[in-house]
Amino acid sequence: MSGNMIHSGLEGVYIEKSSICKVDGEKGKLYYRGYCIEDLAEKSTYEEVCYLILYNKLPKKKELEEFSEKLKRERTLSKEVLEIIKNMAAKAHVLDTLRTAMSAISADDPEPYSADESVNIEKAIRIIAKTATISAAIGRTKKGKEIIQPDNSLDHSENFLYMLTGNKPDREKTKLIDVMFILHAEHSSNASTFGALVACSTLADIYSAVVAGEATLKGPLHGGADEAAVRMMESIGDPANTEKYIDEALAGKKKIMGFGHRVYKAYDPRAKILKRYLDEIDGNDEEDINKLVRIALTAEKIMIERLGKSHGIWPNVDFFAGPLYMHMGIKPEMFDTVFSSSRTVGWCAHVIEYWKDNKLFRPLEEYTGKTDLEYIPIEQRR
Ligand code: ACO
Repeated sequence: MSGNMIHSGLEGVYIEKSSICKVDGEKGKLYYRGYCIEDLAEKSTYEEVCYLILYNKLPKKKELEEFSEKLKRERTLSKEVLEIIKNMAAKAHVLDTLRTAMSAISADDPEPYSADESVNIEKAIRIIAKTATISAAIGRTKKGKEIIQPDNSLDHSENFLYMLTGNKPDREKTKLIDVMFILHAEHSSNASTFGALVACSTLADIYSAVVAGEATLKGPLHGGADEAAVRMMESIGDPANTEKYIDEALAGKKKIMGFGHRVYKAYDPRAKILKRYLDEIDGNDEEDINKLVRIALTAEKIMIERLGKSHGIWPNVDFFAGPLYMHMGIKPEMFDTVFSSSRTVGWCAHVIEYWKDNKLFRPLEEYTGKTDLEYIPIEQRR
């Protein structure tokens, strides 16, 4: 026994100082640059939130207009990137295609690395704009449909939904997709942001850091939880089966996807906001989506009774997101594209901030193997 303190999963370890986002896990509060998520979701737009996160201030009217125009100018993709999507998207996981296309985007930047903050903000704007177009193009290709070009009369998230589904969203869906983008824009040093930070700490470029973020987002313990949650709701099938399903799962020590969080030990404020939208569509959609909504709302009640106050396991943002995505015409295999398209701004902001006082990440591990073994030539090995 060496007595080294192992921080498994880096739980409880602070890795940097940051002014981007505060997650108050005890109180269930979330702030971007000091503004609470409830206000941003209700009163702001995704473009404005991107500006806030990148520039650390709310924009004036003219600043926001110029920022939105820049985003629009950067929406299109080169022929080469579109070819990558067409060749890969049908068979690959959406995030695998996204990170490959993102690597290709960097090839068009003659100087991918810069130490200059304003240069990196311009790169971030480019990355945010193109990520939405890539994500939507992946969705279209997966469904065997034509890729839709960006429509510059539409705002960022509205245009994303249009390019993905082929339908211009009505007012209700335009607000809902924008709220989804706002809620997923940033969340301090979670796994994918940490992945991006590890990559950037080597002074690799911002594109490489975003690719690392995208790769890390993929798993069901992080970005994949919304898809896993909706798959679970589909397998429950009928709202009347929900209680039995949950009790059997918990008795078998199975996790219920979309519940629990490393930091939130109270109700995730993003989930609270989404629950209000779910209440609004409850009973107002097609039969299969109405069923998912009922299952989600029933499961929430049961899980809070079983594990909420007693174990601090509450719904997280991923639990209610799935039925709402389905309501907007987004299929489960595409959920990750919404998450990664929105979170790109958070990854970029963290990278830019980290480079102001960069320190290479190089943790230690406690070696538990042997040493000084005798090397035996291959012919003599038994
Ligand atoms: N359902 C049932 N039990 C749970 C759940 C859950 N969703 N989450 C945690 N627990 C239980 C664990 O079984 C464990 O119990 P034990 O102590 O009796 O073994 C205890 O709570 C602690 O769980 P850990 O997974 O060790 O805690 P951690 O801090 O790593 O949990 C995590 C965070 C990974 C998110 C976990 O809650 C989980 O796996 N949830 C389901 C996946 C999910 O929804 N991920 C999305 C997170 S939000 C996001 O990424 C946007």
